[in-house]
Amino acid sequence: MLAIEHNVDLQRYNTFKMASKAEFFAVVREKEDVLAAIKWAKEHAQPIFVLGGGANVLLGKKIKGLVLKNEIKGTGVLAEDKDSVLFSGLSGESWIRFVHLAVEAGWYGIENLFLIPGTVGASPVQNIGAYGVELKDCFDHLVAINLETGKEKTFSAKDCRFAYRDSIFKNKLRGKYFIYSVALRLKKKAELKLGYGDIGKCLLEKGIKKPNLKQVIAIIQEIRNSKLPIPAVLPNVGSFYKNPEIGKKEFARLLKEFPDIRSFPAGKKIKIPAAWLIDQAGFKGKRFGDAGVYEKQALILVNHGQATARDILALDAKIKKAVLKKFGIKLEEEVNIIL
Ligand code: EPU
Repeated sequence: MLAIEHNVDLQRYNTFKMASKAEFFAVVREKEDVLAAIKWAKEHAQPIFVLGGGANVLLGKKIKGLVLKNEIKGTGVLAEDKDSVLFSGLSGESWIRFVHLAVEAGWYGIENLFLIPGTVGASPVQNIGAYGVELKDCFDHLVAINLETGKEKTFSAKDCRFAYRDSIFKNKLRGKYFIYSVALRLKKKAELKLGYGDIGKCLLEKGIKKPNLKQVIAIIQEIRNSKLPIPAVLPNVGSFYKNPEIGKKEFARLLKEFPDIRSFPAGKKIKIPAAWLIDQAGFKGKRFGDAGVYEKQALILVNHGQATARDILALDAKIKKAVLKKFGIKLEEEVNIIL
């Protein structure tokens, strides 16, 4: 039975620890709960907002409508052949646990994505990525429930329109579907991606030439802990911005003025680390009241205690203005802002 509550505090449900209240709130534990919630929302003419791990949202003081906290958990193998498995997770499952299970089973593909906070269901929404791997690299399909009709639909990788930290669920279908399960094609034979700078450096330091899966996740853990704040210790939502992509002409202009600018090729464009831009604009480690920029990674905004969405957005405006003035580059948020 679905229990709908009124005026529920969401602070413990978001890793930024924003004080926020849901007008209506329900925990969903199985598919039937989602269908009941859709029915209730229709009867009461309320919009639905799905909350996964709350690890990529900036919540305002009051969230209108019905907030669904996804607690639909479970994992399983849908199919298997001699080279690969189709490993599926229900959407409320912890992403970290999901990766851990894959690594324990000896399946390759998502080890570099270890320790990304959040749920399995949120992983395709922004095509999570880290250390040279993106979810789309091993994504097979997902099953989602239409929040208007309650009907199920299967989405292939193509249907999801994955791009850098982006998918159809952040654009055309934003707020339209409840992602129910996600299936990934994982490899049984060793296929590690160790090319990202920090991983190579760490392996060299440890003198490991041919790492196994467990060594890889240990290294990912070490790198992440040295650069990224643990949300439970210092509330944050990971990267606040996307790394901007600029044209080659614009890059040539910037390179003249800033010879040490960091960059990565991105198809026809050039990707500039937003962390470098924010760092150069002088914001790394800065604090304005309880809203701050993390001292070890300028891409991450942190809540030192009682910061509100308004405080974070004031800092965000300052950062954007300074980066635009200094570099002529417009920063774009990676986090979902729900006001
Ligand atoms: N840098 C600075 N100052 C800083 C930090 C970094 O100048 O304070 C420069 C360095 O030159 C560094 C470059 O920025 O070489 C890139 O930094 P890093 O390798 O730490 O990665 P990033 O581009 O800042 C991205 C993802 C992270 C992901 C890491 C590792 C985005 C928006 N962010 O960050 O994802 O963990 O690469 O793969 O693409 C997230 O999405 O929440 C997230 C944490």
